Amino acid sequence: MVAIAIIGGTGMSQLDQFTVQRREMVKTPYGVPSCPLVFGELNGVSVVFLSRHGNRQSIPAHMVNYCANVWALHSVGVKRVVAVGVVGAIDDACNVGDIVIPDQIIDYTTDRSKSYERGHVEGFHQIDFSYPFNDALRQELIQGGGRVGVSMVDHGTYGTVSGPRLETVAEVRRMEQDGCSIVGMSCMPEAALARELELDYAFCAVTVNPAAGKGDGVINVPDWQSTIETGTASAQLLLAETVLSL
Ligand code: HPA
Repeated sequence: MVAIAIIGGTGMSQLDQFTVQRREMVKTPYGVPSCPLVFGELNGVSVVFLSRHGNRQSIPAHMVNYCANVWALHSVGVKRVVAVGVVGAIDDACNVGDIVIPDQIIDYTTDRSKSYERGHVEGFHQIDFSYPFNDALRQELIQGGGRVGVSMVDHGTYGTVSGPRLETVAEVRRMEQDGCSIVGMSCMPEAALARELELDYAFCAVTVNPAAGKGDGVINVPDWQSTIETGTASAQLLLAETVLSL
């Protein structure tokens, strides 16, 4: 049994300093996950890793089988999930390169399978989702990041959109009025599915661009490559440090 999982996002199809022990493709009632689960040790701590977008980063956020991914982790005994993903910055407090540990979510996605509830599970209860992230896990990440000197923002509201296109300026303006600090495509339904399966879940959001209308001119996606690399390197450092205290 491996209690801790890390879900890697864009730019993170593997973990640094990870000693791989085995890989396993887990079949679930919801289909197959994005790729085989990778079991191993990160900094001496047993961890299972899953690349959300597949080994070759070929599955865009709107095509990810979130139900299968989270179910697969649960089925191998995972209890705590640290998810990583890239986002655009809406709030001025969030700068490109920062890692944001959000504490709230607004779900703007429209076309995703959002629940394991399919109406045939007797006694299924609605989940409380007032606080969508596990606060103890969030604090561990904030402290771990602090110890390795990563530039972080320790709270914020993650607005999740369907993608794959980026937002219009007006959409970002509306999200800002709603109270969103960052915008990305991966946090939902992942966080809600984790809650349904009673997994602790927290998110490391790597800020790679100012959201639409927040920077100078239009968003130049190819320019993200270097910010993804530096942001992901910070996330890797944070993860390797944080697992020591999980
Ligand atoms: N919008 C949505 N998703 C994203 C963005 C963005 O600006 N940047 C990285 N992922």
